Amino acid sequence: MTKIAPSILSANFSNLEQQVRLVEKGGADWIHLDIMDGHFVPNITFGPMIVRVIRSLTKLPLDTHLMIEKPERYLEEFREAGSDHVTVHVETCLHLHRTIQQIHKLGMKAGVTLNPATPASSLREILPDVDIVLVMTVNPGFGGQKFIRSMLQKVGEISGMVKSTNPGIFLEVDGGVGLNNAAVLVKAGANVLVAGNAIFSKRSIAHAVMGLRKAARG
Ligand code: DX5
Ligand code: ZN
Repeated sequence: MTKIAPSILSANFSNLEQQVRLVEKGGADWIHLDIMDGHFVPNITFGPMIVRVIRSLTKLPLDTHLMIEKPERYLEEFREAGSDHVTVHVETCLHLHRTIQQIHKLGMKAGVTLNPATPASSLREILPDVDIVLVMTVNPGFGGQKFIRSMLQKVGEISGMVKSTNPGIFLEVDGGVGLNNAAVLVKAGANVLVAGNAIFSKRSIAHAVMGLRKAARG
């Protein structure tokens, strides 16, 4: 079954507790946390302090997407704050395999993510060692951007690689995901849909989660 992971980046931060309750009510599976450092991406969001707050509000798995340079410096802090999954960009890791090992050693699920222009083939050697592959379907940095259509083919290609090497992987897509493309993404092989704008900009956040799940079924 497809998992729905609302991205808290688009939530109303003046009432995080209410926002978390609403996505829970809608049946969200994971909460996606976008950590940005103003270096790897041209935006700054939040760090372990807010992760800790969200941890205190929910038992849902916290899916932590690190858009930061040298992410290996902060793995322990995110674990301490309550992250369940940590996903790092291949573009930020000089020693990707070591970083994945460190995430596992800390007891978290380890994910790897690719910018839109980074080829699927850059995953080949690391695929047997990860739990999550996150395909960026926009350039990372901001919520509410337009889905990059050519990423559909990339999801399909990665899905093929995953099936033949490590079929238990969560294949997650992130950026511009909504009612209009959920079904085709699932058809291409995605089994986790991250959505920010498509959930938190709606009048009923709970219904938006349910609607996305329905759309994913096609
Ligand atoms: C972009 C982030 C995404 C973003 C998704 O850098 O990684 O998780 O919040 O937001 P939407 O769904 O609005 O594109
Ligand atoms: Zn993200």
